[in-house]
Amino acid sequence: MKMFQHADSICHTYNHCWRISSARFMKTNIIFKAGYISQSFKQNHMEYRRLGKSGLQVSALSLGSWLTFGHQVTDSVAEELMDIAYESGVNFFDNAEGYAGGKSETVMGNILKKKNWDRSSYIVSSKIYFGAEEKKPNMTGLSKKHLFEGTHNALKRLQLDHLDLLYCHRPDQNTPIEETVWAMHQLIQQGKALYWGTSEWSASEIMQAHYFAERHHLVPPTMEQPQYNMLWREKMEKEYLLLFRDFGMGTTIWSPLASGLLSGKYNEADPSDTRFAQIESIGWLKERWLQPANLQKVKSLKGIADRLNIPVVKLSLGWCLKNPNVSTVILGASKTAQLKENLTTLEILPLIDDKVMTEIDDLLGNKPAFIEV
Ligand SMILES: NC(=O)c1ccc[n+]([C@@H]2O[C@H](COP(=O)([O-])OP(=O)(O)OC[C@H]3O[C@@H](n4cnc5c(N)ncnc54)[C@H](OP(=O)(O)O)[C@@H]3O)[C@@H](O)[C@H]2O)c1
Repeated sequence: MKMFQHADSICHTYNHCWRISSARFMKTNIIFKAGYISQSFKQNHMEYRRLGKSGLQVSALSLGSWLTFGHQVTDSVAEELMDIAYESGVNFFDNAEGYAGGKSETVMGNILKKKNWDRSSYIVSSKIYFGAEEKKPNMTGLSKKHLFEGTHNALKRLQLDHLDLLYCHRPDQNTPIEETVWAMHQLIQQGKALYWGTSEWSASEIMQAHYFAERHHLVPPTMEQPQYNMLWREKMEKEYLLLFRDFGMGTTIWSPLASGLLSGKYNEADPSDTRFAQIESIGWLKERWLQPANLQKVKSLKGIADRLNIPVVKLSLGWCLKNPNVSTVILGASKTAQLKENLTTLEILPLIDDKVMTEIDDLLGNKPAFIEV
């Protein structure tokens, strides 16, 4: 990563010139990320990053609703969470048709309606694939039929005219990628969504989508939503590198705390007020994360965090933010205190310098082998 003081000095080198018109924005740095120039801005305590090479500015920390809205938390807690996030400068709220069988979108839609915030001040997503309540044929997947109907239903639940970001929540082996790309292009042409992306697609599937879109002059995917945290690195740090370099893809990363494990709260005990204790259907996830080897790593990370005088949770979130290919870290929270704490992560980012990053790599022992792109 290279830092420059003067944007103008490099504008002429790349046909990718921009001006900062508003004095409210403080220019912070410019990042060469594998071929594209990305710029971040700070306003009050929040940082805004461009979603890949697109012009959309997304807050570096955003809020998601999986397992919480319409499920683990009451509607009034959901409202408090959105209030806290919005007041802290969060401008992106993540959702999906499959979250709580569609209830998560209904709850978020009611809150957005009640708040009446300026529509241009926030970004809302949905993701199509898993279906909402019913799962009959054509009510799931990435066929043109389900993409159209799923998107229309998500918009109804969210009480919005358009989604800012619309994702294909998983790849669909039963639908040709061509059909999916055409459908996403058409949804954008109809104004139902502004940008489309993928979630947990392989790099080669995303490349196929790009090449098909380019050949037929269709809108290509702008962003991918992968899992990324200290214990899950392969896609972001290896598999997707060419996507960042050649297509300028942005990323909206999920489970930055490995479902709460990387907050350090499981180090000494198995608390009862958590998703793992409260939601039976995610036993598989609990099994994935609550492994002795993972717990040992989090205990060792606490040693580094203690030395820096910060909680492990901020070390974990800050580590994700250090990756310049991360456009936004989607936070999850079941309690307002958690969200308030997590939203102050940007303040401690300077403490996580290169030396600390190397120390973390040595401790984790899972840094993907470097490939030059
Ligand atoms: N595209 C996809 O396939 C996909 C998949 C999953 C998620 N997502 C998106 O990503 C968002 C974030 O994912 P995630 O919820 O798994 O993120 P996460 O950060 O890994 O886990 C969040 C959970 O950790 C616990 N937690 C958070 N802050 C804490 C703190 N300071 N101290 C102690 N515990 C804390 C809370 O759970 P408890 O209090 O219940 O322990 C919270 O709900 C989701 O809401 C969703 O929008 C996308």
